[in-house]
Amino acid sequence: MRNKITKCLFPAAGYGTRFLPATKATPKEMLPILTKPLIQYGVEEALEAEIHTMAIVTGRGKRAIEDHFDISYELEHQIKGTSKEHYLTEIRDVITQCTFSYTRQIEMKGLGHAILSGETLIGDEPFAVVLADDLCTHLPDEHSSGVLAQMVELYNLYKCSIVAIEEVPEHKTDKYGIVAGDLMEGHDDLYRVDQMVEKPDPKDAPSNLAIIGRYILTPDIFDILRETKAGKGQEIQITDALMEQARQGKVLAYRFKGRRFDCGSVDGFVEATNYFYELSK
Ligand code: G1P
Repeated sequence: MRNKITKCLFPAAGYGTRFLPATKATPKEMLPILTKPLIQYGVEEALEAEIHTMAIVTGRGKRAIEDHFDISYELEHQIKGTSKEHYLTEIRDVITQCTFSYTRQIEMKGLGHAILSGETLIGDEPFAVVLADDLCTHLPDEHSSGVLAQMVELYNLYKCSIVAIEEVPEHKTDKYGIVAGDLMEGHDDLYRVDQMVEKPDPKDAPSNLAIIGRYILTPDIFDILRETKAGKGQEIQITDALMEQARQGKVLAYRFKGRRFDCGSVDGFVEATNYFYELSK
């Protein structure tokens, strides 16, 4: 088994119902914050963590994602040598630095199932997972790295699965995977996880530490996922599979440095738009 994180998996098969009608014929991952689609932010975050192989789990109606990460010769031809050429610089950079591979999730059976569908692209090595509708950024006044880069650094030290977490208001625990555990010695932001529950009622939640859409997973997760029964919402949950690893003391939860926008909700999407707009001025 290779022990370095070289691949990032993007589960991108979901319907994006909360953004209908915009997502009727456009993948939700292609909705832009300013001029850049959500998934491109995720790919750039992976690149910053020195990950160059992007593995994308798509579904029906998601072909725009493949086209986005490919050269459009017609467009290149049209704007070559004009004042508009710089609009393509960023995406060209991404395309030249990465390889992309795709597989389709045929049935929607939950995030755990989507990740298991990606096994064919990942193989027997540890990998990162980005849920593109959680948009993460480092604070502008900080010279810190992106969330995934921070997590890869931790992986290189501890060699086990890691989830990114943040505190959420107690009444919102039913929107997230919730973890609990003890702080690791010498750390104030890293926990050894011993409990993980998918979207618990606030009264049953073991804490208010919520998983956000960034994971580092060791490849034994695939065998565990194969055995994981449908859980919350009758879906195969990655949180339940990770609990299996947590029982063996093999999951860390990292309270990351940076800011996360929940772009799966309209409120978070608008918040991110305003934030990046202010930043761009
Ligand atoms: C998924 C996970 C959940 C996690 C969340 C982060 O839920 O199942 O554990 O907290 O992503 O965004 P979803 O938002 O897809 O319902």
